Amino acid sequence: MSILQSIMETAAQFLPDKKPDVMKADEETYVGHARTRVDGPAKVRGEARFTAEFQIANLTHAVIVHGTIAKGKISKLETEEASRAPGVLAVITHENVPKMKAPPSVDLSNMGKGFALSNLPIMQSAEMHWDGEPVAVVVAETLEQAEHAAHLVRAEYQLESADVSFEGMKPKAVMPHDVLGEPPEITIGDVEKGMAEGDTRIEQVYRTPRYNHNAIEPHANIASWNEDGSVEVFDATQSVNLTAHTIAWVFGLKRDQVQVVAPFVGGGFGGKVGLWNNIALCIAAAKVVNRPVKLALSREGVYRVIGGRTIAEQHVGLAARKDGKLTALMHTGMTATVLSGRYAEQCTFPPRHLYASPNMYIGQKVVYLDTVANTWMRAPGESIGTFALESAMDELAHELRMDPIELRKINEPEKDPTKNHPFSSRKLVEAYRRGAEKFGWSARKAEPRSQRDGKWLVGQGVATAYYPFLRFPAKARLRICIDGTAVVQVPAAEMGMGTATVQIQHAADRLGLHAHQVSFQYGDSRLPDTPVMAGGSNQTATIFAAVHAAVDEAIGELLKLANKRADSPLKGAKADEVEARHGGVFRTKAPEQGETYANVLQKAGVPFVEVETSSAMPLETMKYSMASYGAQFCEVRVHEETGEVRVSRWLGSFDCGTIVNPKTATSQLRGGIIMGIGMALTEETLFDERRGRIMNPSLAEYHVPVNLDVPHIEIIYNDIPDEHAPSGARGIGEIGITGAAAAIANAVFNATGKRVRDLPITLDKLM
Ligand code: MOS
Repeated sequence: MSILQSIMETAAQFLPDKKPDVMKADEETYVGHARTRVDGPAKVRGEARFTAEFQIANLTHAVIVHGTIAKGKISKLETEEASRAPGVLAVITHENVPKMKAPPSVDLSNMGKGFALSNLPIMQSAEMHWDGEPVAVVVAETLEQAEHAAHLVRAEYQLESADVSFEGMKPKAVMPHDVLGEPPEITIGDVEKGMAEGDTRIEQVYRTPRYNHNAIEPHANIASWNEDGSVEVFDATQSVNLTAHTIAWVFGLKRDQVQVVAPFVGGGFGGKVGLWNNIALCIAAAKVVNRPVKLALSREGVYRVIGGRTIAEQHVGLAARKDGKLTALMHTGMTATVLSGRYAEQCTFPPRHLYASPNMYIGQKVVYLDTVANTWMRAPGESIGTFALESAMDELAHELRMDPIELRKINEPEKDPTKNHPFSSRKLVEAYRRGAEKFGWSARKAEPRSQRDGKWLVGQGVATAYYPFLRFPAKARLRICIDGTAVVQVPAAEMGMGTATVQIQHAADRLGLHAHQVSFQYGDSRLPDTPVMAGGSNQTATIFAAVHAAVDEAIGELLKLANKRADSPLKGAKADEVEARHGGVFRTKAPEQGETYANVLQKAGVPFVEVETSSAMPLETMKYSMASYGAQFCEVRVHEETGEVRVSRWLGSFDCGTIVNPKTATSQLRGGIIMGIGMALTEETLFDERRGRIMNPSLAEYHVPVNLDVPHIEIIYNDIPDEHAPSGARGIGEIGITGAAAAIANAVFNATGKRVRDLPITLDKLM
């Protein structure tokens, strides 16, 4: 049995929702119901296997040896001793690694080709490009043997001067060609004139550090080559299909010679999109030893070869008249990237869409550094961008002696401020109203340092959350079977957020079936070849649109079958005269006239109908300004003597269109907010600006929030459908982190009177 077969058999047990249906007869739809995750029981029982947990016959283990210079050449690589160590099967270096083509770099407009965040060749020469770049891969019979031998590899280097200091490289910053397809610079009116016209103005600099990815499951792969030259790869990935394409490109294979599988992924947050060095090296190692290879990164390994969030510096200038109306909005940002990737993190996206101002200047620059390619990390751009902009709005409100929610209301735009498009649906003011009421905002004292509880200074803050709506054209395969069940297949990723669950709910509704009759298969690149990925909070909407199209086409096929029979109650019915309901196709205007799927198929004598259908282009995003919105409310307590900050209360009030499943959605939003608490208070990659080396590559020294750092987080929704989004739903995966750091900084200011503009807000900054 191939590794993929064994993997898919394990996964298949959990994919169909075989549980009895809990929907009551008087309830019409599953969308909107707080259903428990279909993969939950398997995870709780420990039956859900993650990449590194699979035991494959004949498996070998690989460990990466990381380089320790930021730039230069390997002058000597001592591998003799490692090669002779017990159990070692191969020590792979640039001298004996299989030829691999450099991966294509990020191009969202052509995702079908796949991509990596850097187009540097992978271990193909003695050249070193970042501290941590792999210099060798040791493969051995056991993990312990591979780890031992990896320590015996010695490298010597010829050092070249490296550009690793963000501060040092700032004078060489350049404007990127584009920021994720948007112009890097936007000018409206005359911002200097606008700044002068204001009665009150603020101009400040906001700094955010490097952040690293710390998904609970570190990146891992198992690769196995077949005799026919094809390769099977088990990958902890958010982008099954894209990664299959990229692997095919790098190894010079046809797309159908590569199979990537990921039934369960333990979080991704943007760090598991595309091809990183470890994936290619695992596959190369399996080729060298001609056996299956497992390469599971250590926590330190993730820091060395997987990029994190860029360091950033943002300048925000705001001016307003006495009544709070903005006369100018200026927001510039500088982020880091690598020449081999040129990814400009979209930190100026929020100011493009949040406030009305007659005069605006928005601009972004990048500096090129010799580091591992930085990458997406939950709401890349919007998370740090909202920290700057929403802190600045709070500063302006304070200067104006105006309530910060009122200031936002006054500057709420009627249409998109920079694109001029109408909003598809924007109920941000309503989210603020409902949130303020539930949180008890009116009880807050605006004057800083005016609430205390013993030695604890208490304060509350708000900030706007914002994340754009994304949808990609995609294919879904739908099979409706003679027993009245249906299967939806899309190569989606399930990182624990509830993808399979909400897709079953939605498909059941579209098909008029019960949820237990629908299964959703994902996480396998042999499913329809379509660039579906869990990134940019797009996946739910992307698949919804594909399912809409597939259901329509399948109903057309069923009508054709029914029409062949003179006795069919659907005889002569056109596609637009029927609907899917009660397990079959029925006339919309004569609801009792129709047939179940089972009946149509039985009478036609065919076991199933199957379609593979593409959704329409996302034209809605070109006609409308589409985004999810939210209002973050938090309360902090700051110890007067030690400066310790505790987040004591949180309420997020969101406007994300239809909430498909309040249970999984709430969990997603809470997760985002918790990540925002980390971003605001504890997380920071310590980076040696002289050597270009990450100094705290471990959870012991890089502090993500733990249970005690997180209060109860209440989440409420407008739950107003967006009629331009498929089934009314916009994205929820990333918006939770946006605005969170600003809400905390604003609450800290309210508590202490101290404004912290450089994250994280550590004790020393409040003493
Ligand atoms: Mo998200 S940062 O697009 O996984």
